[in-house]
Amino acid sequence: MPEITVHSVEAEDLPDVLALHARAFGPGRFARTAYRIREGTPAISRFCLLSEVGDELVAHLRFTEVTVGGKPGVLLLGPLAVETRYRGLGYAQRLVEVGLENARKAGIALVLLVGDEPYYGRFGFKRISPGRIRLPGPADPARWLAAELREGALAEYEGTVEAAVAEA
Ligand SMILES: CC(C)(COP(=O)(O)OP(=O)(O)OC[C@H]1O[C@@H](n2cnc3c(N)ncnc32)[C@H](O)[C@@H]1OP(=O)(O)O)[C@@H](O)C(=O)NCCC(=O)NCCS
Repeated sequence: MPEITVHSVEAEDLPDVLALHARAFGPGRFARTAYRIREGTPAISRFCLLSEVGDELVAHLRFTEVTVGGKPGVLLLGPLAVETRYRGLGYAQRLVEVGLENARKAGIALVLLVGDEPYYGRFGFKRISPGRIRLPGPADPARWLAAELREGALAEYEGTVEAAVAEA
């Protein structure tokens, strides 16, 4: 069996990443609020990761650098996608764990996402109290989650989430 490797994402990986997203999420994905924040940001940040088996892309995790109320030090996690036949093998978990560790080492205080609490809870994500940290569009409050990478970080942030870096 070829070994599974985890790498940063490079520009040459993007066609395969987009094809994976199309298979994993379908056409409705562009309408989601999280996509609206990512729109107009570089497709790759220094925190994005992928997994390969041999040279086949099997999983991808994007992180977008954002601000909350204009304050930096925050990432928006997602999308996270694994090829169907490789699901349930821990590949997503590995990417999230490596991604959060890299973010912590880089001094990121807070990671936000819109997703399933039953899945992301295992990494320390919890629901955000309504009103404090706001998305620029509608999202189910039960799916609006945060993980503190620095203790007490949540209390330091208030306001609307915006992309930190615009596309060059
Ligand atoms: C969600 C997804 C990324 C998980 O990838 P994966 O590699 O199968 O995940 P892992 O192997 O690390 O973890 C599997 C575990 O998570 C659980 N799990 C997966 N999706 C879940 C969800 N939505 N809610 C709760 N638990 C979930 C599995 O039941 C399994 O549990 P177990 O460890 O108790 O057996 C993958 O199913 C996928 O690409 N789905 C389509 C895209 C998507 O919905 N992405 C997430 C939103 S951005």
